[in-house]
This record gives sequence, structure tokens and C-alpha cells, in this order.
Amino acid sequence: MTTERLIAAGSAGPVEEQTNWALRPSRLDEYIGQSELLERLRIAITAGKQRAEPVEHVLLHGPPGLGKTTLAHVIAAEMGCKAHTTSGPALVRGTDLVACLTKLDQGDVLFIDEIHRLPVAVEEFIYPAMEDFRIDVTVDSGLHARTVQIRCKPFTLIGATTRAGLLSAPLRSRFGLTHHLRYYEEPELLLILQRSARLLGLAHAEMDGLRAIAARSRGTPRIANRLLRRVRDYAQVRGDGRIAPSVVDEALALEGVDRLGLDHLDRAYMRTIASVYHGGPVGLETVAATMNEDAGTLEDVVEPYLLQIGFLARTRRGRALTHAGAEHLGIALKTEAASREADAGLF
Ligand code: ADE
Repeated sequence: MTTERLIAAGSAGPVEEQTNWALRPSRLDEYIGQSELLERLRIAITAGKQRAEPVEHVLLHGPPGLGKTTLAHVIAAEMGCKAHTTSGPALVRGTDLVACLTKLDQGDVLFIDEIHRLPVAVEEFIYPAMEDFRIDVTVDSGLHARTVQIRCKPFTLIGATTRAGLLSAPLRSRFGLTHHLRYYEEPELLLILQRSARLLGLAHAEMDGLRAIAARSRGTPRIANRLLRRVRDYAQVRGDGRIAPSVVDEALALEGVDRLGLDHLDRAYMRTIASVYHGGPVGLETVAATMNEDAGTLEDVVEPYLLQIGFLARTRRGRALTHAGAEHLGIALKTEAASREADAGLF
């Protein structure tokens, strides 16, 4: 169930990727939001072009769905080069990396998604490639072992990760430009949705309707575009094609998505902490067992956004629901302190 959430920030798979492709900005001027990052990239790109060198290696970290892959393609397009994409777990052996690197032309971008999952054995090959555009391969073994150097063309490595903390220090230090992508503000999401509505040819997308979608998009363009497509279908089948706030409400209520973009799983998680554990603090594993859910799933796909909007607190003693979180559920939080007093007959 959890993998099919409408408001999941991760990609829903190749079909969604393809649909999204048409909505993605291909040049810096079309890119909305992340203004500090764009400014840094503009400078790096202009400087690289002036010196006829590739852009410095870039490390992008931040939550999924915020445009790390898109930016890799934008950088390549701005440099007039190609982007080649792969991912940390896809590079199993050093030779997989060698195959990628030897395909690159001068100035091309090699995008490695989930770079924190790059095997250690492959990581060692990547250091000389990043520093000197050279790959050291050991041939033969034992007494005859020797290192052969293969040259690759000067390129830009763009690494993307949701878990920058898991990257080794030597790898992190080899990126010239490191940037954290932040969640988008609602006005930025509104601009993205207006652009997407235009590209999708939605003549009857009302500003307030798009604003209602932006508010439910959890700061994430990928979610915004997914919700827009879902509302478009609903408006077409159940209405007259207009995307008005009431249509957004109806379409997304049907999906269990509330006005802040929370779904059944988010609310079930908060409700468990509220009603079974008096609002916490309670250990993640305990909540997971009560809900019959996987703790890792809750940690990766439910908690980040609840923490971001201040509905959940992570304390040394476990997870706790905040008053704002309880208020959103429409329940009065019975805190530990209050229940102790109640048990002692003070109330
Ligand atoms: N579509 C998805 N993300 C976008 C962005 N940052 N700017 C413009 N369009 C987008």
C-alpha cells in the first residue's frame, strides 16, 4: 500500500518519469525555485564555458522529488553536452564505472543518483576519475599485477543523494560545488503548476484551483505535477474540465489526501501515537509494530514531511506528536504529564 501513495515524493516508476519529462524545465531560465543554487550554477557554467572546461563536479543533496535529476540535464543542456544517468546501486563493479566513463565525450555530465549507495570498490575508481580524468585498472594478479591507466575525457560528475551523511568524507571532498535542495514554497509550486497546466493545455485551470493543489504538494514539484494530473482526470470525467478549488477538494478527498497533503498513512501514524501512546514519546519500532508497518518505511516515507511541518518531534526518548499535529487530527492531546495527573486523580 505504501508504495502506491499519491503523495509519495519518490518516483512512481518509468511511466510517470516519461509523463514528467514533458513538464521538466530543460534550461536554467525555465527552472523555478532554488534561486541560490541556480545562481551558483549560472556562475559555474559561465566560468566553465569561458575557460572551455567542464563544470566542476556537483553534489546535490535533499529530499526526493525536488529536481536533482532535472538539474543534471539542465546543466548538460546549458553546456551544450549530453547527460548520462546511472545510480549508485547499478554500479556493482569497477568495470561498470569504467564502461560509463569511457562513453563520455568532452564536457558531458555523468549523473549518479543515490550516490551514497555506491559500493566501496567502485568508489576507489572514481577518485582518480574525478581528479585527473584517469581510471587506474589493475590487470593480472599476484606477481604480474600491474596498474594500467585509462584516460577519460574531462567530464562533470553530478552526484545526487537523499542521505548526504552516508557519503564518505573523501568522496564528499572531491565535489567542487555542494548544495542542499530545499522544499519549495507554495508560491513557487504555484508557478510550477501554472507552467505545467500551460504545457498540458489545460485551458480551464483556475488560479485558486492550482493554489489548492500547491498547498497539498508537500513542497515537492513531483507531487504537485502528479496531483495536477489526477485532478485533471477528475475534472474531465466528473466536471466540465474546470480546475476550481472545489474540484481539487473533491478529487483529492477521493484519494484520501487532506488540505495539507497528508494521506491515510500519515494520519494513521499520528493517530497511533496520539491514542495508543498518549502523544509519545514512543520508539519508532513500537509504533511500527502497533500499526503492523515496516519501521524503515515509516522513517523514510512518513516521518520526513511530518517533521518538516512541525507535526512530529524526534526526541531522545522517541517520537512525539506536537500540539499542531494533534490539532490537525482534531483531537486534544493527552500528554504524558496530563495523564499522570489524571491517573493521580488530580483531574
Ligand atoms: N517542473 C518540475 N520542477 C520544476 C521546476 N523547478 N521549475 C519548473 N518546472 C518544474
